[in-house]
Amino acid sequence: MAKKKGVLIYKCNSCGNTQPRWLGRCPECSEWNTFEECLINPSEKKANSDSNDWIMQKPVKLSSVNPMDGDRIFTGINEFDRVLGGGAMKHSAILIGGEPGIGKSTLLLQTAAAISNRKTENTVLYVSGEESAGQIRSRADRLNIPSENIHILCTSKLEDIENALNTLNPIFCVVDSIQTIFTPEAGIVPGTINQLKYCANELITWAKEHPCVLMLVAHITKEGIIAGPKSLEHMVDTVISFEKNNDDVRFLRAQKNRFGSIDELGLFSMQEKGLIPIEDPSSMFITQRSSSLPAGVAIVPVFEGSRVFLVEIQALTVPAKANVTRVYSEKIDFARVSRVAAVLEKSLGLRFSDQDIYINVAGGIRLTESAIDGALSAALYSARTSIPLSESTAIIGELSLAGEIRPVQKIKQRVKTALSLGFEKILCPEKDDNAILCTDIKSLVKILFKNS
Ligand code: TYD
Ligand code: MG
Repeated sequence: MAKKKGVLIYKCNSCGNTQPRWLGRCPECSEWNTFEECLINPSEKKANSDSNDWIMQKPVKLSSVNPMDGDRIFTGINEFDRVLGGGAMKHSAILIGGEPGIGKSTLLLQTAAAISNRKTENTVLYVSGEESAGQIRSRADRLNIPSENIHILCTSKLEDIENALNTLNPIFCVVDSIQTIFTPEAGIVPGTINQLKYCANELITWAKEHPCVLMLVAHITKEGIIAGPKSLEHMVDTVISFEKNNDDVRFLRAQKNRFGSIDELGLFSMQEKGLIPIEDPSSMFITQRSSSLPAGVAIVPVFEGSRVFLVEIQALTVPAKANVTRVYSEKIDFARVSRVAAVLEKSLGLRFSDQDIYINVAGGIRLTESAIDGALSAALYSARTSIPLSESTAIIGELSLAGEIRPVQKIKQRVKTALSLGFEKILCPEKDDNAILCTDIKSLVKILFKNS
């Protein structure tokens, strides 16, 4: 019998990782007993092996390596570019997750159009495993975006996508969504984690070896966990989440980014003509009122990435119905709320320990900075005493357990933005010509609630 020609390698049937010898546990996806023998001929080996373009045989000096930084493409949508760390890096894979209907397909079709229109040689491929070409064309028409330079492929077969990638060599490829892609190589059942990892790995490997940005769309469950695609997070370079608040505002945020910070927030509003970037969001988290502020409301300038937003914190206190009091706070960590309330009780003798406390943040933005402590104290004090703050007041500072208000980073920028939006009474724990110095909770109450 003729001996089969080829090289014996071992391939993980979960994620497609290849190894020269059998291993009990896959170093890529950490699954056990997934390696199977696989005979390939040497010419295939290079194409099949994992991301081999950047794997080196010998070490070199880091200083002799060209940095990847110049290798970005700008999507042309500023809010998106900012979240990506200044554009999308070529040879990289980005996972974008969000609930169904949030606007992932809309955003990526707009992005595909923006990239393909910048230069005619920018080939863009949009793969859809969920919608027909006609549906995508209708969306493009509704969004009024030119579609001449966007290549569409409606399929769920991995092999079709690989063929299209090799033929077109796109610089930007969207796969919408990765959960719909299937290959018989990874078993006969569609929709399994094995299928997901295998298909993603093949596509990511292709992107690593070519100057292409690969966008994998993933649906997430209501609880916010990327179902199934959570297991892809370690395989991609960037993970972006797309969320919304109660209105039609959409938040774009990086959860992991190998090529930039994860602090930046992208803001869009979903309108008839698609997603419109919100150019100046600094005052969008303040409720516009015709009358004066109600009790329990205080405003703080917070940093989200490189930008300052003025945000309204709302507090409500009611006598507890049971012996155990509770803090209801979704957008600010309830431990922070409890701590600030405890400091107020101790320093001012104002009782919170028999109250249920409700905290909300206008616009649904989540606040994690310690710089919000001062405004949170003022909102709580105002809610408990029913004395409202004056409209043009903003408060900056972190509260210590001893009742001191301490400086936070970038105070000058916060004060400047508050001033530009018409705030006149700005309390901050550092000397500033345009602000009122306030370094402890007792003076904060004195300045803000003089009549008390
Ligand atoms: P879509 O991008 O299909 O969401 P996803 O891909 O995340 O499931 O967006 C669907 C929603 O967006 C749908 O409810 C309609 C709305 N929409 C608009 O309001 N304006 C538009 O221009 C478009 C295209 C969609
Ligand atoms: Mg979609």
